[in-house]
Amino acid sequence: MSYERDAIARMSGYIPGEQPARTVVAKLNTNENPYPPCPAVMAALHGISGDALRRYPSAMADGFRTEAALVHNLSADNVIATNGGDELLRLAITTFLEPGEPLGIVEPSYSLYPVLAALNASPLFRVPLADDWSQPADLAKRWNDAGIRLAMLVNPHAPSGRLTAVAEIAGIAKAFKGVLLLDEAYVDFIDPDRGYDSTPLVRDLPNVLLLRTMSKGYSLAGLRFAYGLGSPTLVQPMLTKTKDSYNVDAVAQALATASLRHRDEAAATWQAVRSERSRMAAALAERGYASPPSQTNFLLAAVPGDDARSVYRTLADDGIYVRWFDQDRLRDKLRISVGTPKENDALLAALDRIG
Ligand SMILES: Cc1ncc(COP(=O)(O)O)c(C=O)c1O
Repeated sequence: MSYERDAIARMSGYIPGEQPARTVVAKLNTNENPYPPCPAVMAALHGISGDALRRYPSAMADGFRTEAALVHNLSADNVIATNGGDELLRLAITTFLEPGEPLGIVEPSYSLYPVLAALNASPLFRVPLADDWSQPADLAKRWNDAGIRLAMLVNPHAPSGRLTAVAEIAGIAKAFKGVLLLDEAYVDFIDPDRGYDSTPLVRDLPNVLLLRTMSKGYSLAGLRFAYGLGSPTLVQPMLTKTKDSYNVDAVAQALATASLRHRDEAAATWQAVRSERSRMAAALAERGYASPPSQTNFLLAAVPGDDARSVYRTLADDGIYVRWFDQDRLRDKLRISVGTPKENDALLAALDRIG
């Protein structure tokens, strides 16, 4: 007999990318930054005092929120710190969606959204993306017609890497009557010459909640720290009612604050990733593995011959981990994180061996 709620008994859990215990040749499966956090962040880690651990941390992560407000030219009231972006997604559902109400998504996108919706007994209202991974022009209307009160949209898109311009996002947000959670987990890897800046949306539109994470751009996936940017109407209820009282720990607050303070150093890694991204997109295409233009730290490569699963397995046997999704439109592709030049070369060499 099961003691689970019906909704929990019915659902399947999220399947995280593998974190192999053995040393691998190249770990290109979970979109981590291939470079370590900057020295200032490591110094902040070594500087954590016993007292900082003995006491409870700042419940609202005040120091971090002030720093983030400064970086984004917003107010601390626009910022909430969370235990990874995943917590912000969960909080948005808890705060803005009645149990059982549908969640708006586009498909495909981040595979955690359906899992979090299921926890809330919420069905999904799915809008399929076009062949080029763009969203339909009437996306907001479709969500409105279905009475959607919370929708999640990832930009740049995962898993394709495609970037939608801010003007188009603003159009969707203005037309949409519910809360739009704009998941910008990969925003740091966008080419600066694209001029992407979504933070004015936070000032102008009360229904936009941006997700930013320290996991990717700041090389801190192991720390579990992210933040949301939104109008106080969205941020306050999460901050004062629905989050755990001490949702981000003292170590995470200190390191995340140091990271933002030294973001120029993280920015050097973003540039390195961009340049490897271009090189890899071309090198993969030469081998028949075409990918759509990516503004993230990964490429969604179509596998020649279509047997993506067996290529994925062969690579794993060679100690090279990439991601394969058993999902419509993705089964014939591999999602490959951009690694260091050495890791990327190892992947190319392995693909050449596969032939
Ligand atoms: C699209 C997307 N959103 C959000 C996240 C959340 O990341 P984290 O919980 O590490 O901040 C991820 C992580 O892979 C992601 O791919």
